[in-house]
Amino acid sequence: MERSLVKHSEVSVRSAFGDYRVCVGAGVRRLLDSAVAEAAPSGRCALITDHNVKRLWGRKVQAHLASAGMDVVAVSFPAGEAHKTRETWVDLTDSLLEARLGRDSCIVSLGGGVVGDVAGFIAATYLRGIPFIQVPTTTLAMIDASVGGKTGVDHPLGKNLVGAFHAPEMVLADPGFLATLGRGARAEGYAEAVKHGVIVDADYGQWLASRAASLLDGRGDDVERAVVRSVEIKAGVVSADEFEAGRRQILNFGHTVGHALEADSGYRLSHGHAVAVGMVAEARVGEELSVTAGGTADRIRRLVRAFGLPDTHDGLKRPQRLAELMMSDKKTRSGVVHLVRLEEVGRAGSGSEVTIPVAVDEFVTMMEKWR
Ligand SMILES: NC(=O)c1ccc[n+]([C@@H]2O[C@H](COP(=O)([O-])OP(=O)(O)OC[C@H]3O[C@@H](n4cnc5c(N)ncnc54)[C@H](O)[C@@H]3O)[C@@H](O)[C@H]2O)c1
Ligand SMILES: [Zn+2]
Repeated sequence: MERSLVKHSEVSVRSAFGDYRVCVGAGVRRLLDSAVAEAAPSGRCALITDHNVKRLWGRKVQAHLASAGMDVVAVSFPAGEAHKTRETWVDLTDSLLEARLGRDSCIVSLGGGVVGDVAGFIAATYLRGIPFIQVPTTTLAMIDASVGGKTGVDHPLGKNLVGAFHAPEMVLADPGFLATLGRGARAEGYAEAVKHGVIVDADYGQWLASRAASLLDGRGDDVERAVVRSVEIKAGVVSADEFEAGRRQILNFGHTVGHALEADSGYRLSHGHAVAVGMVAEARVGEELSVTAGGTADRIRRLVRAFGLPDTHDGLKRPQRLAELMMSDKKTRSGVVHLVRLEEVGRAGSGSEVTIPVAVDEFVTMMEKWR
């Protein structure tokens, strides 16, 4: 369908791989046929999704593409972080090779952040890279994961340890998909939105908290506004430092502790919950080191609580174990953890230092005090 026929907002993202647009609004999924036609001269595409999303939305999306004359190879894998693996990458890649999907085709990722990361990694590596289109179906994927070009899979030693940068051709973020997502699952994405407010835009953080009820209900206009503002913030940071040499690292705020908590839980703790807890914990560390303004952790705590997100977790009582897990994280080297330097709510990494080095021993001692 023509872009002008569906009312929506657009954010453009600058990328070394070519600039791309993020279209946000109820009904933008109807633009998928023209997006595929643009990305794939053959009119062929692989529709990658997980089993849940396949059942809820996959067949409808496939029918939409087929009715526009597209040839769709539909593949899916079991839902959840536990399947964001090299094995899934192998299985799906094999299916696409067997279907003889060529370089003139493209990949469509339909699902949450797990699907986007796996499908993006397949697109990055398949025949040395083919175009892909992100159709996020969770708040987390709309607000964060589908923008920025990071793709990859997990490894038993840690999250996202194998991957590639591969930017999408287009992102179609349609809040209509959120209708089938429970309230708790919708809340997940707002952990990342709160993060965007905390690192760059304090007013946005306040606005989010004031509209939490409507955002959790999935009310279209507010959701559209949140997705647009979050994507603008993320795009602004990413465009200036696409390959994470410097300032892009501020997007990892809450993630150093968050990833360790996720791994410690055997990935039963969801990413959004882990990030919510991680932000509060990292701000506390920042306060203890006098890098972060006093009261910041409490302000963040109020923001995450507005969405019913947790501000603490049992895993924090095992600092030694968390420290070990942080050591295997790709951002940690030689006994020092690099935490994002948050000065206050709305300001992170603004000076010459984007991160603060914290010796692992010091980190453990600090956390032990909190028990
Ligand atoms: N690449 C990035 O920049 C980036 C950024 C943030 C997060 N991530 C990754 O994103 C992942 C988390 O994303 P997520 O929370 O979306 O997880 P997810 O993809 O596992 O989705 C969560 C659950 O919701 C289901 N689901 C998806 N859409 C649905 C819908 N519309 N209705 C009902 N159920 C639906 C899924 O099947 C799954 O069970 C993590 O792996 C994280 O590392 C990546
Ligand atoms: Zn995240």
